[in-house]
Amino acid sequence: MSYPPQEYDEPKSNTAVWTATVLLILSFVTGLLIFPPLYDAPKGEAASSVLFIGRFHPILLHLPVGALIVLSIMELACLTRSGEYKFGSAALLTLWIGAAGSVLAVLAGIMLSREGGYTGGNFTLHQTLALIGTAGVLLALCIRIYAMGQQNRELMHAYRAVFFGSFGIMSLGAHFGGNMSHGSKFLTEHAPAPMKSQMVGMEKWMLSFVEQPKAPAVEVKAEPTVEPVTPAPKPAPAPSIEATPAATMPAPTPAPAPTPAPAGTDKLVFQDVILPIFVAKCNKCHGEEKQKGDLRMDTFEMLMIGGENAAEKKNNIVPGKPDESLTIQSIVAPIDDDLHMPPEGKDQLTPAEISAIRYWVQAGASATQKLSDAQFPAEAKEALPQ
Ligand code: HEC
Repeated sequence: MSYPPQEYDEPKSNTAVWTATVLLILSFVTGLLIFPPLYDAPKGEAASSVLFIGRFHPILLHLPVGALIVLSIMELACLTRSGEYKFGSAALLTLWIGAAGSVLAVLAGIMLSREGGYTGGNFTLHQTLALIGTAGVLLALCIRIYAMGQQNRELMHAYRAVFFGSFGIMSLGAHFGGNMSHGSKFLTEHAPAPMKSQMVGMEKWMLSFVEQPKAPAVEVKAEPTVEPVTPAPKPAPAPSIEATPAATMPAPTPAPAPTPAPAGTDKLVFQDVILPIFVAKCNKCHGEEKQKGDLRMDTFEMLMIGGENAAEKKNNIVPGKPDESLTIQSIVAPIDDDLHMPPEGKDQLTPAEISAIRYWVQAGASATQKLSDAQFPAEAKEALPQ
């Protein structure tokens, strides 16, 4: 294994590489100035050319993933002096390609988000971690070029620390992006039990940073009714619907007595009783992230439009006729029936929740019916705000 040592020992100048890198960083910054990362992009305000490019995000993202994985392997070979001599330039090129791919993927991703509707914890973490990871990879690129020019092995170690750290952050961000397109359980669903609880716990912990202050995705227009929890005469008991902390939070307004709530509370049947049930038990598959059977249940309008079967005269909700409503049919079907929802093995509806949903459809499936006007059957009591 011989190589001309004098060539290695002389500090190199890398004008071309520096130029390419500075251009790359400038493109990144310019791109971010034109398309600043938003966390609640308005719907339908972007030009179609922006959305056209944005839709390439799922393709573009494979470029940095591939390049940076290859680079990770190359960096192991570059740990020795002779390894760096042999593979250093190739590693630098791969790093540049990976960084450029990250910049492209991030910018396309931001453009894609301009379609609107990208909110929620998975999106927040995806966008934030991808941005930090990309900035880190660009920083790593600069350190590597400089370290190579200076033949400085300490700087080279610093570079590797920055690179692997940034790539780790980026991968974590990519995972939350995967959650957005495949559903939050995609990766963990078939994990071995001990691993699964750890993975799910980690995810929940991370999501808790960005999701806590959010109320359920309620879009029904109504007078703001949510009051702070504390001034309740007696502390509101734990909500009966349990799921991810943010998704549920059934607006814990103090309602002095259940069925029927006395006049004076402006709570709505749909918004305060029905929607929180769907949010907790159905929206993982029929929400903003995923629409199984083309059905979204996270807003009143979407719920009424229905899913793929709406075309075949099977309406998702038939006001006044629960037995003809596909949603009711699905929740009352026997658990081993293909039609049964939520699918076997998922968090099931309680009899009280089924009864409450059934009553709401029977009473006309209204978006504006007041809780104080509702006559819920006794068995629905547990599903009502206490
Ligand atoms: C774990 C994922 C999951 C959950 C949770 C879930 N569903 Fe589904 N749902 C599906 C899948 C998958 C389909 C499509 C079934 C098919 O095409 O055969 C579907 C289809 C449907 C359909 C038929 C839509 C149509 O027009 O064809 C209805 C209605 C429905 N679900 C209601 C519900 C309700 C109500 C809940 C909550 C109580 C719920 N689902 C929870 C996965 C889920």
